[in-house]
Amino acid sequence: MADVAKLQVGDQKLELPIIEGSEQELGLDISTLRGQSGLVTLDEGYVNTGSTTSGITYLDGEKGILRYRGYPIEELAENCDFVEVTYLLIYGELPSEEQLKDFRNSIRSHTMLHEDMRSFYDGFPFDAHPMAILSSVVSALSTFYQDSLDPRDPEQVERTIFRLIAKLPTIAAYSYKKSIGQPFIYPQNDLSYCENFLQMMFAVPSEPFHVDPDFVKALNLLLIVHADHEQNCSTSTVRMVGSADANLYASISAGISALWGPLHGGANEACVSMLERIIEDGGDVTKYVNMAKDKTSGFRLMGFGHRVYKNFDPRAVIIKKACDTLLAKLDLQDPIFEVAQKLEEVALNDPYFVERKLYPNVDFYSGVIYRAIGIPVQMFTVLFAIGRLPGWVAHWKEMHESPTKRICRPRQIYTGELKRDFVPLEKRG
Ligand code: CMC
Repeated sequence: MADVAKLQVGDQKLELPIIEGSEQELGLDISTLRGQSGLVTLDEGYVNTGSTTSGITYLDGEKGILRYRGYPIEELAENCDFVEVTYLLIYGELPSEEQLKDFRNSIRSHTMLHEDMRSFYDGFPFDAHPMAILSSVVSALSTFYQDSLDPRDPEQVERTIFRLIAKLPTIAAYSYKKSIGQPFIYPQNDLSYCENFLQMMFAVPSEPFHVDPDFVKALNLLLIVHADHEQNCSTSTVRMVGSADANLYASISAGISALWGPLHGGANEACVSMLERIIEDGGDVTKYVNMAKDKTSGFRLMGFGHRVYKNFDPRAVIIKKACDTLLAKLDLQDPIFEVAQKLEEVALNDPYFVERKLYPNVDFYSGVIYRAIGIPVQMFTVLFAIGRLPGWVAHWKEMHESPTKRICRPRQIYTGELKRDFVPLEKRG
């Protein structure tokens, strides 16, 4: 393969370098295009646009490959806990025993929220969406830690990373407790990350609480498979906001808002709502598959399709297996799981889905596990956010450590009115 591409614009001949990634991915470097020719590129939805080089996550959507820092997702899901994967994503290497111990301790020492933050929850309505609470409270953390907001100071950034990873489960669990009118449960630092989250969600002060190890295992796995996915919508948002040198709390809060959208992380909640609707409507999956194919219906199969995967989403394969195991172990027959499997079978045999290479994605089966654990549907995307946090942090940090960092500022092709004369108010028709 040549190392330059030639582009002819009218009489002008341009040469644009082709760059190669470590997995032989090729990209056209257009950074000199506008300077040389006055042209910009147009690529709505960034379908063909690489926004950065990155050494964090590799995915091959045709082959269904996903690796964090070179390690296959299947091996990490099998062998690690979420905090270990968090370390890997943020620092680039699997931690030694000593490093992991220190990292866990650093996180543990920051799990509590400032007492004044508890009063924020009094101001939210009881039925506020927990994603709105999560992004607001994360943004508000910056008002409590004004001494550590400088993105250029590595020590301040490190402290902020510990705080965010430690506090996100506490913020999330408080939003659930608020919604059901139960008292907030303080974090317990002798518990593991996932155990602690489950006790803050489900313990009550009047009774002893036992954490089910199967739930802890399932939660660890779900958080790991959600932990990073290269330049997705929320991660690109975190990078975009961070590129203006906004602090890490502000950048993560923006990422949480992007994730909330039903085309992105909000799809897990939307998927379970869809499956419930199918059951209530008599369980006819073919009717819903047909509706998804009808462009005038405005209906899509939630949890199906992906911008990058044109083959099985490897995360969906891991989650479906874990789902099977957990439900069998709990001796649970969840009608949602049964309908999901039927829907998958019908869709995967339908030419519409086959031709468009639409497969179940990470969100298709995750909701079934969350339900088995007892997590309410409104909290599903919050769980996605807790899982994705290390990825967001790793990308924000990678961007700030890059010597070529610039503010993200796309161009446009203007299609509006030409210059016209101002019309005074009294003369407007
Ligand atoms: N149901 C029915 N048709 C679909 C679906 C679906 N779920 N997804 C895509 N299509 C069709 C779409 O109508 C289009 O058809 P045509 O070529 O005839 O116009 C074709 O497939 C390509 O779709 P697209 O919208 O151009 O693809 P995209 O890459 O812009 O969108 C997506 C990707 C994930 C937003 C989309 O597949 C979708 O809306 N899926 C449902 C929502 C969902 O499950 N999102 C979670 C994504 S995974 C979690 C995460 O990382 O965020």
